[in-house]
Amino acid sequence: EEAAVARPFRQRLLVVANRLPVSAIRRGEDSWSLEISAGGLVSALLGVKEFEARWIGWAGVNVPDEIGQKALTKALAEKRCIPVFLDEEIVHQYYNGYCNNILWPLFHYLGLPQEDRLATTRSFQSQFAAYKKANQMFADVVNAHYEEGDVVWCHDYHLMYLPECLKKCNTKMKVGWFLHTPFPSSEIHRTLPSRSELLRSVLAADLVGFHTYDYARHFVSACTRILGLEGTPEGVEDQGRLTRVAAFPIGIDSARFIRALELPQVQEHIKELKERFAGRKVMLGVDRLDMIKGIPQKLLAFEKFLEENPCWRGKVVLLQIAVPTRTDVPECMLLPFSYQKLTSQVHEIVGRINGRFGTLTAVPIHHLVSTVFLVWTDRSLDFHALCALYAVTDVALVTSLRDGMNLVSYEFVSCQDAKKGVLILSEFAGAAQSLGAGAILVNPWNIIEVAASIGQALNMPAEEREKRHCHNFHHVIMHTAQEWAETFVSELNDTVVEAQLRSIE
Ligand code: G6P
Repeated sequence: EEAAVARPFRQRLLVVANRLPVSAIRRGEDSWSLEISAGGLVSALLGVKEFEARWIGWAGVNVPDEIGQKALTKALAEKRCIPVFLDEEIVHQYYNGYCNNILWPLFHYLGLPQEDRLATTRSFQSQFAAYKKANQMFADVVNAHYEEGDVVWCHDYHLMYLPECLKKCNTKMKVGWFLHTPFPSSEIHRTLPSRSELLRSVLAADLVGFHTYDYARHFVSACTRILGLEGTPEGVEDQGRLTRVAAFPIGIDSARFIRALELPQVQEHIKELKERFAGRKVMLGVDRLDMIKGIPQKLLAFEKFLEENPCWRGKVVLLQIAVPTRTDVPECMLLPFSYQKLTSQVHEIVGRINGRFGTLTAVPIHHLVSTVFLVWTDRSLDFHALCALYAVTDVALVTSLRDGMNLVSYEFVSCQDAKKGVLILSEFAGAAQSLGAGAILVNPWNIIEVAASIGQALNMPAEEREKRHCHNFHHVIMHTAQEWAETFVSELNDTVVEAQLRSIE
């Protein structure tokens, strides 16, 4: 018992994600500067005392030469990060191609790209081959650093083939996999040419986690319908072997946001913003410039609101911060959304609305395309400015068409204890399951409904705002990222012990 209290060692946790939590900038042949991000996952794991985390992932840059690779590996080691080097061709086929042109839109219900038939077959095949190759490269790095007893936690749709690669080499390795996006209905997943291979590979993990119960349920039905396996309340069973499947809703490091609001520089920002927008209500959107975020639909709803409520013209401003992302993902011919089209579409709508409703002294929409706010989801270089923006906001508009969780909604709530602003939240964001009772839930495709909810939010009596805010604030401070990480890892440890006991029986 004493030994347990003294904790002779901390369990090592290998966190494997496509992107490392640092951005690397090359300064010379053998010198690099690293910018550590303070995103959700990083702060979640920093706060966890039970284990010692190491990161394995892609540094986001192409490093073709050995000198550069060695120097970067050394620099990253100081941050407990281990790089996986992917060349340009692999990045193109695996990251831009299979991950972001196929899995990402499909998992968000936007369908598969349809090029001409021959090209599609070819690109599906070669992109899936590159995906598997890249996943194997991640596995090789994990294997090179793995020590007995380590927990290996794989993240997201980029690495669905990883659990199988890992278990093939070492059946005893404790492997967990967590998906940060939605897992779609099995009817959608069925359309994916490599549907079975991916499901089987994920099932090689000991524990499979999702943000919501619905995503977990979709995954289990995909396994039963497509693979013909048995779904149980615990997970999926295949010839006596159980893969645990469960929901682990992520949170944020809310204390970090709450603390930041007290800082003099944040207070200064708040003061400036209040002066700048005096006499007007502030509405805020913060999104990666991604088709799943529903930015055009949000702007159209705001336009509708201004159209129907002339009394609000000049009295409300929408600050829309859009963070450019994945600009190299190719435009596909028939997918109705693409990263390139989206940017010009958003600019066009903003221009029209500002032209229609702006005056010589004020415009209704401030649209900032800014790399200053880099996300996953709060990997923000100007964290203080972001906190100030959240704090002065009267109404936040989170209207994703689909979103795994959406932590912008959590960040907003955590900065609103003074103001008690209103959150308008898409029912298709995972966060709707947790913040639904405090937010105004909307169908982002229904522009009339969203426009009406903007009116409802702006006119909401203080008492109701307070009640709704308190509900959400309580949730956000109680369900933190740290608690999420601890729960997942301890569940993974337990799952493996239970499986061992079952095999002895
Ligand atoms: C989503 C994904 C993450 C990803 C992030 C940013 O939140 O679930 O895995 O890191 O988007 O996208 P990027 O492609 O820039 O890494």
